[in-house]
Amino acid sequence: MSKQQRGKLVVGNWKMHGRLAANTALLQAVAQGSGELPADVRVGVCVPSLYLAQAQSLLEGSSVVWGVQDVSAFTHGAYTGEVAAPMVTDFGATFAIVGHSERRAYHRESAELVAVKTQRALEAGLTPIVCVGETLEEREAGSTERVVGGQLDEVLARLSAHDAARLVVAYEPVWAIGTGKSASAQQAQAVHAFLRARLAAKGAADVALLYGGSVKPDNAEELFRQSDIDGGLIGGASLKDHDFLAICRAAAATSLAG
Ligand code: PGA
Repeated sequence: MSKQQRGKLVVGNWKMHGRLAANTALLQAVAQGSGELPADVRVGVCVPSLYLAQAQSLLEGSSVVWGVQDVSAFTHGAYTGEVAAPMVTDFGATFAIVGHSERRAYHRESAELVAVKTQRALEAGLTPIVCVGETLEEREAGSTERVVGGQLDEVLARLSAHDAARLVVAYEPVWAIGTGKSASAQQAQAVHAFLRARLAAKGAADVALLYGGSVKPDNAEELFRQSDIDGGLIGGASLKDHDFLAICRAAAATSLAG
């Protein structure tokens, strides 16, 4: 499949932001703005799980899909505070982010735990957005490929080729997240090409590869023009409807129909 046939995907990661009233305005604006995008640009928002029902009620019938930012490694049971993937499916969700660097760092999620969560999401019928990325220290030590390759391999080792093809993978260099310091388009493309080759070796070359880390309206288009960058996972800029929609339009400008 060529890059154009893969289309573009832009997903907002709200992190721990939002309140009912503000969410309503943001979701309505995103739903309306996304209706004007070409069909080969898909748009999603990953909200705090408490707001899934709100996302469902406001986005159903629009072209925007919704999801969560994490799922439990268990399907049910005595795991206080956890949210299981089948619960997420009850609310019509499409995506579950797994292995975000904030969870790996602040919640001590291991590569193995991320792999199990990916399996639970797939079993529930969700599309996992598996995040990988290196720290600044690892990049400067020349370890980027070893780190992101290791994170991806841990997930792929547990999946059939069929399930691997159902993933979305997000390359999010830790040093670029929330820092205003995006990877250059060339730096991102180099890592995406590496990840694409790993996925191809597993028979999953057409997985959507998103870049995340300080994507803004003014750098999105250059990033999205790279041959192995199929879209973005957007943190801070997904909280402002104008910025998020401008990033979606940048995806449209680089898509086949755009
Ligand atoms: P950022 O976050 O766009 O605010 O850098 C991206 C992410 O963490 O998914």
